Amino acid sequence: MTSEAADDLRKLVYPETYFVGLAPPEMRLALLSRGILAPTRRPLRYLELGFGSGFSLNVHAAANDGAFWGNDFVRAHVDGAASIASISGADAHFLPDSFTELLKRDDLPTFDVIAAHGIWTWVPDEDRDAIVEILKRKLAPGGAFYVSYNNTAGWASVVYLRQMMKLYLAERGGGADVADAVAFARSLQSAGAAYFKENPTAAAEVALMGKRDPVYLRQEYFLDDWKLMSLAEIEDALGPAGLQFGAQFPLIMHDDELVLGERGLAIIAKCETPILRETVRESFQGMGFRQDIFVKEASLLSPDERREHFRAERFLLTTQSRNVALKGGSPWGELDLRARGCVPVMQAFEAMGPGPHVLKDIEASLPDINIDDLISRIILLAAVKVVRPALSVEEERAASKRCAALNAYVLGLPGGAAVLASPVLGAGVDISPLERALIVSQAAGKVTIDDCAAEITRACPGELNGRSAHQVAASLHADHLPIFRAMGLIPS
Ligand SMILES: C[S@@+](CC[C@H](N)C(=O)[O-])C[C@H]1O[C@@H](n2cnc3c(N)ncnc32)[C@H](O)[C@@H]1O
Repeated sequence: MTSEAADDLRKLVYPETYFVGLAPPEMRLALLSRGILAPTRRPLRYLELGFGSGFSLNVHAAANDGAFWGNDFVRAHVDGAASIASISGADAHFLPDSFTELLKRDDLPTFDVIAAHGIWTWVPDEDRDAIVEILKRKLAPGGAFYVSYNNTAGWASVVYLRQMMKLYLAERGGGADVADAVAFARSLQSAGAAYFKENPTAAAEVALMGKRDPVYLRQEYFLDDWKLMSLAEIEDALGPAGLQFGAQFPLIMHDDELVLGERGLAIIAKCETPILRETVRESFQGMGFRQDIFVKEASLLSPDERREHFRAERFLLTTQSRNVALKGGSPWGELDLRARGCVPVMQAFEAMGPGPHVLKDIEASLPDINIDDLISRIILLAAVKVVRPALSVEEERAASKRCAALNAYVLGLPGGAAVLASPVLGAGVDISPLERALIVSQAAGKVTIDDCAAEITRACPGELNGRSAHQVAASLHADHLPIFRAMGLIPS
């Protein structure tokens, strides 16, 4: 491949995506869960490296009180993201620089949060070095670095699958494409190649490839740069910038009772170093993709300080308790929210009205539950997205106009499912086509169940699955409307 062709492949226009783990309140909760205080400076200074479509950055810039910066060396990404920021009026700066060019700028502030989602594994060594240098110079003490990457514990076997498909494409030159390489891998699998029997993760990957986005497939499997790492290797790489592991996403990984069980907990109890303890967790998790938060000069909280910070946090119940599936499967066994004591906590939220509610008020209404148990239950409910962390009232006020403008723009675009910016959560909210119909009709001042049914019939009749539009509209009004109002997605 010529170097220009390799460059073209690296500079693909990336599809529009949203990642909730990049939202400042979600990071704050993940760190607090592990007894670490997230950056408290307001306005927050936030930098997203390689922002792609920039949609996550735009949502977070609209929904939080701060200055949001980002870089991406694909011009179309920068122009697209900047035009959306001009709609919301957020304090956002989209730079067309590469990571090495970013280091040469003298107009960057120091940042409280730096984030790199979908970058670390897929760039060459010199870019990883530039990122470490950015963190060294530009992440403030107490600051947090979010990084996601492909993880050895879950994906080691996929290294070989990738090599095999790349070799096939190299041999065929311009006469084959990604789909041919996938078909080649499948032909080996159906001919009984032992590799696929020995490595079920690789077999499952090949099975999924037909459903994957083609840009994702090219970036994951056919770029030259692709370095799988373990948590310990990432911590080593970030050491020169003064960073240490802090916490990880998704929050369900914080649930040692579920993920490690008694035997895993007994092993952890005998490990002396934090990194070995985390490596034990990593081995029980067995994930192919990790999302971690590293911290610089972390503010570690004592158990009492952690309790006090939790008490002051606001949370929003995002699903009516009657609609929550109390039992569900997980890779580590069944998760039973009732058995884990979550039902009275949800009921306490409901008894206090739509919210958000400060945890100390929930604590006061549940005198039989001690604060440490209550915190564990809240983390579990947050892990299954039944509650979400919320901003302070002052931050919420500052964000609501920006979110309204961004959401009006998003709802004006064609399409079904969408992500809207919540000034209450400081984050994006996924909405289904039916939920969108409810929000669109409310935003147009058409507030009755009949209005909503008419919008469903117009916009997404294919979603009804045999139910009447009126029936679905009535249940959206009963179950979703109060929650969307509480999230600030519908003007009150
Ligand atoms: C896999 S995409 C991830 C995009 C986004 N963070 C997301 O997760 O949706 C990687 C992004 O990093 C950008 N990128 C890769 N190498 C870069 C570099 N050296 N400097 C700036 N941007 C880079 C690409 O243009 C692309 O938008």
